[in-house]
Parts: sequence; structure tokens; C-alpha cells
Amino acid sequence: MRKDIPPIGLGVYKAGDAVYDAVRFALDANYRHIDCAKVYGNEEAVGKAIRESGVPREEIFVTTKLWPTDFAEPEAACIESLKRLGLDYVDGYLLHWPGIDASLRLCAYESLGRLQEKGLVGLVGVSNFLPPHLEELARAQLPLPACNQLEVHPWYPQSEARAYCHSRGIKVVCWSPLFRGAWQAAPILNEIGQAHGKTPVQVVLRWHIQNGDCPIPKSVTPSRILENLAVFDFNLSCEEMAAIDALEDGRHISKDPFTYDGRL
Ligand SMILES: NC(=O)c1ccc[n+]([C@@H]2O[C@H](COP(=O)([O-])OP(=O)(O)OC[C@H]3O[C@@H](n4cnc5c(N)ncnc54)[C@H](OP(=O)(O)O)[C@@H]3O)[C@@H](O)[C@H]2O)c1
Repeated sequence: MRKDIPPIGLGVYKAGDAVYDAVRFALDANYRHIDCAKVYGNEEAVGKAIRESGVPREEIFVTTKLWPTDFAEPEAACIESLKRLGLDYVDGYLLHWPGIDASLRLCAYESLGRLQEKGLVGLVGVSNFLPPHLEELARAQLPLPACNQLEVHPWYPQSEARAYCHSRGIKVVCWSPLFRGAWQAAPILNEIGQAHGKTPVQVVLRWHIQNGDCPIPKSVTPSRILENLAVFDFNLSCEEMAAIDALEDGRHISKDPFTYDGRL
């Protein structure tokens, strides 16, 4: 049941009423990785789209996440997510944020391992964990997570956290990989795209993939869903990668993982 994480996924945060159609369209178009979470409030529609897609369940990598206010009851929260999804298991189950209570976090993380042993969860992962949070797992002699989902895009590459993960075999999954539209103000992305017959968005997604990471762009627009998957037939040169790296300016959306307690 344990699967590799497919190299690109469909995000569904704030996908609204369009989420069912978007997931169905994406699966028809050959996406095999769907990223959802309890707090997105759309597990029912995502699960329905997966079940009705006709794509064999074993071909699809489905992620959902445990919110910090549920850390005291991980098994109950996981079972509730599975019920909403209408699935027997999820492929990735992630601590959505570290939260601010270290002992609760460690207990919740250990529980995810037990859910994995029970077959409810394929891979145990985390999200918004910085190196000190990961060090804490290592100190507690817990297995490292299979993945860490972080806000990553050219403007906020989180290089230190990514390097930490890369060096320990933790797959980096990039949320807000398009920084929700920031590419429009970066002419260099257009220039690079023109050289390859690609759009600026495809250039950004290719940058993620050549970094060895896994972007999960959200779109409910069929043409964009297709556009975002058409990123495996060209290569950015080292100079082009460096020009995209140079867009870094620290702008980001994420709350501070050391202080965010999960209150919405
Ligand atoms: N772990 C976490 O804490 C966390 C936090 C935030 C997000 N996430 C996950 O990461 C996913 C992606 O992040 P995100 O939704 O914040 O932002 P994003 O993927 O960077 O940007 C989404 C926005 O870009 C637009 N878009 C997508 N493809 C496009 C294209 N080819 N051309 C033009 N516009 C395009 C979408 O519009 P349309 O939909 O209208 O097409 C939407 O407005 C989320 O959906 C969620 O699954 C995880």
C-alpha cells in the first residue's frame, strides 16, 4: 500500500464548489496525487470525485492532514477524515502544523506511526516543520517523516529547511508553489518561458521539479490544470535556475511555525 509520492499534485485549498469537478478533471487528465486536509472542509467532495473517477484507487496518492487542535485524538480524527473521504486508507497523513506543545506533538506523531501499522495510513508526514521540529523527532528516536510540506516558491525558497530535508531523505512537498499569482510581476519568468515555448507558471513548476521537490498547485480551471501538468518535456538550464533563484525576496504567506497554535 505504500506508494511513492507522485512528482506533482493537485491542491484543493479554497477550491470551493468547483472542487468535485476539478478533482475529476485532474484525474481524467492523469494527475495521480491529490492534496487535501480536514480544515479545507472539502474531504467529502474530494473523496466522492476520487471514488467516482474510475481510476483504480491504488493508482492515486491521496493526502490529508491532522490539525493541531486534534493532536490529542489522532486516531479518531483520522477515522473521521476517512469517513468523510469514503476511503479505507489515505496514502499520506501529515501533522498539518507543528503546534506549540512539543509533548503533544510528539505523541500525535507517534500515533500516526500506529495508524500506519493498522493500514489506515500509507506514509507518515509532517507539514510546516522546520529543522528544530525535525531534530526533536530524531532526539525522541522516532522515524523521520516521509515528507515535509512547506511553503516553497522562488520568492521564499526555504533553502535551509529544504536542504535539511534533502540530506535526510525527506521529500519536500511545496505548498503555494505559485505563490498565488506572484509570477505575473516577474518578467524573467516570461522570458525563460518564451525560450522553451512554455508559460511563466510552467517555468515555476519546472523549477520546483528540478529542485527535486513536489509542487501541488491548486487550480479549478481545466485549462490551467492541464497547463500545470505539462512540465515534464523541457529542462531549465543552470543559468535559468539561477535566475529564478534570484527572485528570492522573503515574501511569504505562512504563519510562524514556532508560534502558530492552529487557532483559525
Ligand atoms: N500544508 C499547508 O499548510 C498548506 C497551506 C496552504 C496550501 N496548502 C496546499 O497547497 C496547495 C496549493 O497552494 P495554494 O492553493 O495556496 O496556492 P497556489 O497553488 O500557489 O496558487 C493557486 C492560485 O493560482 C491559480 N493558478 C493555478 N494554476 C494557474 C495557471 N496555470 N495560470 C494562472 N493561474 C493559476 C489558481 O487559480 P484557479 O484555481 O482559479 O485556476 C489559484 O488562484 C493548496 O491548494 C493546498 O492543497 C498546504
